[in-house]
Amino acid sequence: MRALTGTLVRAPQSKVTSAVNGAGPRRRQPPWSRPIDKKTPRSDAFVFFGATGDLAYKKIFPALQAMTARGELDLPVIGVARAGWTLEKLRERARDSLEHNGGVDEEAFAHLSARLQYVDGDYSDSGTYVRLKQALDQAVRPLHYLAIPPSMFGAVAQGLAGSGCSKDARVVVEKPFGRDLPSAQELDRALHAVFDESAIFRIDHYLGKEAVQNLLYFRFANTFLEPIWNRQYVDNVQITMAEAFGVQGRGAFYEEVGAIRDVVQNHLLQVIALLAMDAPVGHDAESMRAEKLRLFRAMRPLQTDDVVRGQFRGYRQEAGVAPESQVETFAALRLYIDNWRWAGVPFYIRAGKCLPVTATEVVVHLKTPPLPIFDWIGPANSNYFRFRLSPEVLISTGARVKKLGEDMHGEPVELIARHQPHGEISPYERLLRDAIHGDTSLFTRDDAVEAAWRVVDPVLGAGSVSEYEPGTWGPEESLRIVDDDDKAAWSNPKPEVSAPC
Ligand code: BG6
Repeated sequence: MRALTGTLVRAPQSKVTSAVNGAGPRRRQPPWSRPIDKKTPRSDAFVFFGATGDLAYKKIFPALQAMTARGELDLPVIGVARAGWTLEKLRERARDSLEHNGGVDEEAFAHLSARLQYVDGDYSDSGTYVRLKQALDQAVRPLHYLAIPPSMFGAVAQGLAGSGCSKDARVVVEKPFGRDLPSAQELDRALHAVFDESAIFRIDHYLGKEAVQNLLYFRFANTFLEPIWNRQYVDNVQITMAEAFGVQGRGAFYEEVGAIRDVVQNHLLQVIALLAMDAPVGHDAESMRAEKLRLFRAMRPLQTDDVVRGQFRGYRQEAGVAPESQVETFAALRLYIDNWRWAGVPFYIRAGKCLPVTATEVVVHLKTPPLPIFDWIGPANSNYFRFRLSPEVLISTGARVKKLGEDMHGEPVELIARHQPHGEISPYERLLRDAIHGDTSLFTRDDAVEAAWRVVDPVLGAGSVSEYEPGTWGPEESLRIVDDDDKAAWSNPKPEVSAPC
């Protein structure tokens, strides 16, 4: 594979700044926020089930503290769990969570702590919901966050309905939503028995990432992309989500999912949808969701030949992992979108644990010029758009320029449109804030989740897994996914891209 070492050239700072902050309505809101729709009533209590669990520890407490610090969490916060804990113990857990995930902001923490309540009880016991109703007190539009295993969704929804806690309420659920199409449909039925679809907020935290928002913005805020954003000019699209770490003690969880369920069916297909969909016809959340759905429906269901599954050496020794496990910690896939814009353009996807770097990147490779007038310009790697989604946010385009000298020889350069060391706001903060305000734009609707399962269902657990060494780009076989296309090779993301000088 040919490594592309481009010269980094940044647009003058003033231009970048004016492009970002320039014309447009001046708002007093933070730059990441969208205008709040005043007609949609705001939730007036935040309830989170699974308050003593891992998700609350790693993501929810830090998001709640950040929202409190911005003055955006002026409502009761009620943790529910079946741990036999006290409120004091939950407060200690919250502090510990913050100490390990971003730090304690003493002032915000004091406010959050004062708002915090705790309801202890079994999720299948109606008494738990009676106590929750009492804790809700005057609140009439609570938001219930189900940070619990999906197998409990039905019981909790019924408990909320039986106690009156579901009236005018919203419910937030985590990905993966189901483990295949039938189980996702079953979960939908369980939730729809109590909640209207408009009150269900399915979180995919990738959609709350600054970089993913930026990708969407860049696509539809510029005219120069649209004429070339199609099969006439795009040779192939690659999306790589590489993680340099393993399953981090989550072996038992990972055994139930594997890479395709964990990140491809949701995060990566969502990113592809934003990258490849047509422009929405309106400004509202439903217009955006409608276009995404059309795109998901145009994705051709994967076939066994389109997929290579890998497992890093050592995975089977992780706690909670079966000695003969066939669960993939790596997947390389070739996806086609059967519509007029993308017919025949391969979308190559890779995701894996224990790879050489931690980075997520999308590269849209353009076709080569029709004739090599000057030097040979190589495979379709010289002209591209690169969207680095993490750890930093970067949007750039690759081009060739002439090298200094007599000869008409060139070299690749990269023009950086946006480079931001790290996103300012956590996806969870953004998404919880949106859910409290009833803004569904960044949440996934039932039909889209089901359409995404239709794409991956045929290859879940298909074939055997090939072992790969930790620290490599997965099993050798993954090369065959791009080999069919004589112009393509995997584009490996580099470690954190330093700021260009
Ligand atoms: C989660 C997956 O949804 O996303 C994890 O369950 C993965 O396995 C994580 O590591 C990656 O998210 P981020 O935001 O750290 O890139």
